[in-house]
Amino acid sequence: MLQFVSNKGGGKSVDFETAILDGFAVDGGLYVPETLPKISQDQLEEWKGLGYVELAFEILSLFIDRSIISSEELKMMLHMAYEPFEKEEVIPLHQLKSRKDTYIMELFHGPTISFKDVGLAFLVNLVNFFLERKGEHLSVIVATTGDTGPAAAHFVAGKSNLDAWVLYPKGLITEEQERQMTTLQHLNIHPVGVANCPDGGDDLDLVIGNLFGNKSFKEKLKLSSVNSINWGRVMMQTVHYFFGYLQVVDSIGEQINMSVPSGAFGNLCAGALARKMGLPIKYLVAANNKNACLHRIFSEGRFTKEAIYETASSAIDILIPYNFWRFLYFSIDKDGEKIKKWMNEFKTTGVVEFDKETFENYKKGFLSNSATDKETLDIIHEIYTTETYLLDPHGAVSLHAADVLKDLLGNEKLICLATAHPAKFPEIIKKALSINKLPKVATHHSIEKAKRLCEKVYLCDHANLEEALTHAMETNWDLTKGK
Ligand SMILES: Cc1ncc(COP(=O)(O)O)c(C=O)c1O
Repeated sequence: MLQFVSNKGGGKSVDFETAILDGFAVDGGLYVPETLPKISQDQLEEWKGLGYVELAFEILSLFIDRSIISSEELKMMLHMAYEPFEKEEVIPLHQLKSRKDTYIMELFHGPTISFKDVGLAFLVNLVNFFLERKGEHLSVIVATTGDTGPAAAHFVAGKSNLDAWVLYPKGLITEEQERQMTTLQHLNIHPVGVANCPDGGDDLDLVIGNLFGNKSFKEKLKLSSVNSINWGRVMMQTVHYFFGYLQVVDSIGEQINMSVPSGAFGNLCAGALARKMGLPIKYLVAANNKNACLHRIFSEGRFTKEAIYETASSAIDILIPYNFWRFLYFSIDKDGEKIKKWMNEFKTTGVVEFDKETFENYKKGFLSNSATDKETLDIIHEIYTTETYLLDPHGAVSLHAADVLKDLLGNEKLICLATAHPAKFPEIIKKALSINKLPKVATHHSIEKAKRLCEKVYLCDHANLEEALTHAMETNWDLTKGK
């Protein structure tokens, strides 16, 4: 049976169910499969005609032992997860007219219109399935830069075995994203707006890390997370790389390029693992905005935390791409001791300079770029005026990176990942198109509906967050569980 271990090398190996329910490994590391399954060309050939859900079933079956979830149960969970998506293909591809062999992968047709729905629709069902079977309850805590929060809240809403505490940096996400969380009236959803976060969403991750580090609190409240620290998110996100590949190639074995708007490296980590499993991707592009942590990692070999900028692509205003450590583990022969040393070094000094050998090793097959807001807005404008297709600011960052790197990428087909619907960012779209009234393509019925609903939210200040959150969680636990 495939086991899961910490990328920091500590603790015992665990089964799939434990890795999913625990979120973090006991030594504070991230769970990774002990070995990555390999996909042959014949297998890819067999998968060529599959729809998204059928393909997901094949890929997930490589990681999940049948003794843990039967094939009927897995099929049912996948169908339930993707049934609410607005497009039958789940993640359709749109071919651009203005650039040769260039496709936009639309990952935003789920209920909260961002790519986070793609991973969380399944992961929350999976966690709930395990909890129902064990007769247990969990509280998940997630920090969000605007999209994980709405998706986690949506899928957890009304599930009796789960509560969701959703932390967001007040004022640093759009009003539309905020209302996606605060207008849910379910008793098990707790949106927490946190004012004065000097480092944006990363601040919230640190507090969550501290709560998880408090063993008795974690045990008492049965905490877990569905952020991309959870292996289930990364595993699920490998599927869209396989799906995109199989949609665009003329023949199996052909190489393609993929450009990904990146923050915490969860999505891109999944792409990198899909390639290690055997998917023929020539280059993966780490597309950053002005918060260029990944660009520095891939172009200079430096993992460093710098001051945060507020940008037009606010969901990737992230300083610490923690999933990079998960990917790096596989690039250095699974040396958990080294990962532990670097993670500690980063925690204490805020910077890691990788040695030449490590740098040369991990950067193979990666390119990167950092886009300014002007470049982001210009490309939204260009694509809308030339082909009436509207990109959101994050999709724009990924296409811009591919434009800049065109000569290095070569002539292979290109897929740019569009990770959110433009309706989440109306002010940026107005600015990019120099208009006051949004075109219909920049609106979405779910966003319009949320404007008409009352809000329910806990508000607190970053300086008191840990105390306030601990108190709120304990009180809620007391009230609802009678303890
Ligand atoms: C719209 C959007 N695009 C891209 C990202 C970056 O994803 P990741 O953190 O997996 O790199 C996020 C989330 O942080 C997002 O919300």
